[in-house]
Amino acid sequence: KRIGVVFGGRSGEHEVSLNSAASALQYLDREKYEVIPIAITEQGNWLWGVEPEKLLQARKDPALGESQADTSAVAVKAGSDAPQSLIDLQSGNPLSSVEALDVFFPILHGPHGEDGTIQGLFEMANVPYVGCGVLGSAIGMDKEIMKKIFHMAGLPLVASLTFKHHSWERNPEDVLDTIEQRLPYPCFVKPANLGSSVGVNKARDRAELERAVKLAFSYDRKIVVEQGHAVREFSCAVLGNDEPQVSVVGEVLHGSDFNSYEAKYVNHTAQFDIPATHIPDEQAQELRAMALRAYKALDLNGMARVDFFLDTDTNTYYINEVNTMPGFEKTSLYPQLWAVSGLSYPQLLDRLIQLAQE
Ligand code: DAL
Ligand code: MG
Repeated sequence: KRIGVVFGGRSGEHEVSLNSAASALQYLDREKYEVIPIAITEQGNWLWGVEPEKLLQARKDPALGESQADTSAVAVKAGSDAPQSLIDLQSGNPLSSVEALDVFFPILHGPHGEDGTIQGLFEMANVPYVGCGVLGSAIGMDKEIMKKIFHMAGLPLVASLTFKHHSWERNPEDVLDTIEQRLPYPCFVKPANLGSSVGVNKARDRAELERAVKLAFSYDRKIVVEQGHAVREFSCAVLGNDEPQVSVVGEVLHGSDFNSYEAKYVNHTAQFDIPATHIPDEQAQELRAMALRAYKALDLNGMARVDFFLDTDTNTYYINEVNTMPGFEKTSLYPQLWAVSGLSYPQLLDRLIQLAQE
């Protein structure tokens, strides 16, 4: 089987994708699969041949903070191997070069990768692909629409508000007033379409709120503001198409104020307790059932990680969100949830490729 592993991408989670892909490329069984790495630069250029490997090697080491190499330079410098845009609208058949692939494995996080756009391209090319379809990916990326569907499915949600950029531009004070009238501090401000906590900030007063809203709008034309709770975070991994299976429950332990991008990817302070030991068995079963309900409500297939909050003051569980392309390093939460549930990382890769072709 020829597997096209697509990674990088034009989203704020580009770096996270490179790490996820490096792991998958390392563990895909080369006796079973011919692996064709396909990288997308932050600028949106598609690279193949020797270029994807260069992009991986040049990747920023989050621990060092600074970029070790300018990854954007890779695309520009390539000489005779000059990368092309896959979607070259000038050529007669823009997808001719991918027709030889048996399965696409997109390891892309965030917009233009986890949101149904590239899934649409794969559909058009008539090539099976790993993970959720167009609709599930699109809904799973949009925190506002996702919440609406969870609400219809009777899943418990924290209080939240949504704002579009035009209303902020028209009257910022009005937006801040509305938030203050409807939600107590602290609250969390998030871009509606992103992941990995990129652009997410906690606000404890109006000044912080204004800063957080401005920042979130720098990532997206739509933001959601959620009521903050004293929380613990739990997740379940779901895998499958029509009869999905759910992993054990894991707890994300974090030292920082919330599970920020820095905690997840720079300082690596987030740690996991899998299976979660500090949760009664009955509640763990409840979360697993809720994870399956969420998966079905959003019409997902392939895989998703479903994240929950536990309000420790009231002992109430809330669903936070699904991630249709969860962090995918071997040591990331999703693969670890399966490893503890009895499915190793290479087995997980096999299963996902098999599910893509069902
Ligand atoms: N969006 C990141 C990759 C996650 O959910 O794990
Ligand atoms: Mg997410």
